[in-house]
Amino acid sequence: MAEQVLAGQSALVTGGSSGIGAGIAVALAAAGADVAVNYHSGEQAALEIVEQIMAMGRKAIAVQADVGDERSVAALFEQSVAAFGTLDIVVSNAGLQQDAAFVEMSLAQWNQVIATNLTGMFLCCQQAAREFLRRGLRPVSKARGKIICMSSVHEAIPWAGHANYAASKGGIKAMMETIAQELAPQRIRVNSIAPGAIRTPINSDAWNTPEALKQLLKMIPYGRVGEAGDIGNTAVWLASDASDYMTGQTLFIDGGMTLYPEFARGG
Ligand code: NAI
Ligand code: BGC
Repeated sequence: MAEQVLAGQSALVTGGSSGIGAGIAVALAAAGADVAVNYHSGEQAALEIVEQIMAMGRKAIAVQADVGDERSVAALFEQSVAAFGTLDIVVSNAGLQQDAAFVEMSLAQWNQVIATNLTGMFLCCQQAAREFLRRGLRPVSKARGKIICMSSVHEAIPWAGHANYAASKGGIKAMMETIAQELAPQRIRVNSIAPGAIRTPINSDAWNTPEALKQLLKMIPYGRVGEAGDIGNTAVWLASDASDYMTGQTLFIDGGMTLYPEFARGG
C-alpha cells in the first residue's frame, strides 16, 4: 500500500468519474484521503469509483454537479463539506473539448469550452478558497488548503483547430498564478498540472487506431502515451506536505511533449 501521506485529509475531484479525474481520485484515496467524486452525467461510473475507494477503507461520495453553474458548484461544496466536515484538497479537473477550425467555430462551441474549463475552474477555486479560509489551519497539513488546477500542455503549445480549448488552458495559467499570489499569505497553495497526451475518453481518436497511435507517438519523446495514474501520482505529491514550499507553479507531465520533438530530427 502507498504511504499514507494524506491521512486524515479530505479531497474533492471534479470530473472524477472518468479518465484523469478517476485516476486522481483513486490515487488520493490510496494515499489516505477521503474523496468526493464529482460527476456531470456518468452516475454509474462515479459510483464505481466510490466503491473502489471505499474498498480501500476510505470514505467516498459521488456528487452530481455542473462546474460551469454557480449554484451547482455551491451545492457540490456544501454536500462535500457536510460529508467530511471540511475539504483539504480540491482538484479542479473537469474539462472538455469542442473542436472546430477557427473560421468555423460557433459561439456555442467557444462558450461551452470556456464555461466548463475556465469559468468552472474559477467557481471551484473560489469555493475551495472560501472553505479553507472559513476553517483555518488543521494539524493534518502544513498548508491551510491545496488547490490543483488541471491545465494542459496546450496552455503553452498552440493547437490548430482547438482555439477555444487552448484559450481556456492559457486562461487557467494566468488565473492559477494570480490566485496563488493572492492566497499564499493565507497558506493556501495553488498549482497546476499540465498533462501531455493521456489515454482517456477525451482523446480516444488520437490513440485508438494503430495509425493514430503512431502519429501521436512522434510527438512524445518518451515513447509511450500517458496513463491516468501518471497524473494521479503527481496530484498526490502536489497535495502533500512534500511540496509544501511550492505554489503558483505548473508541472508538465508529458513524456517530453513540450521539448519540441521535431528538433531531435533536424533544425
Ligand atoms: P474525460 O473526458 O475522461 O474527463 C473529463 C471529465 O469532465 C468527465 O468526467 C466529464 O463528465 C467531466 N465534465 C465535463 N463537463 C463537465 C461539467 N460541466 N461539470 C462537471 N464535470 C464535467 O477526459 P480527461 O482526459 O480525463 O480530462 C480531464 C481533464 O484533463 C480535462 O480538464 C482535460 O482538459 C485535461 N487534460 C487531458 C489530457 C489528456 O490527454 N487526456 C491532456 C491534458 C489535459
Ligand atoms: C487534450 C488531448 C490531447 C493532449 C495532448 C490535451 O489537453 O485534451 O486531446 O491529446 O492535450 O495534445
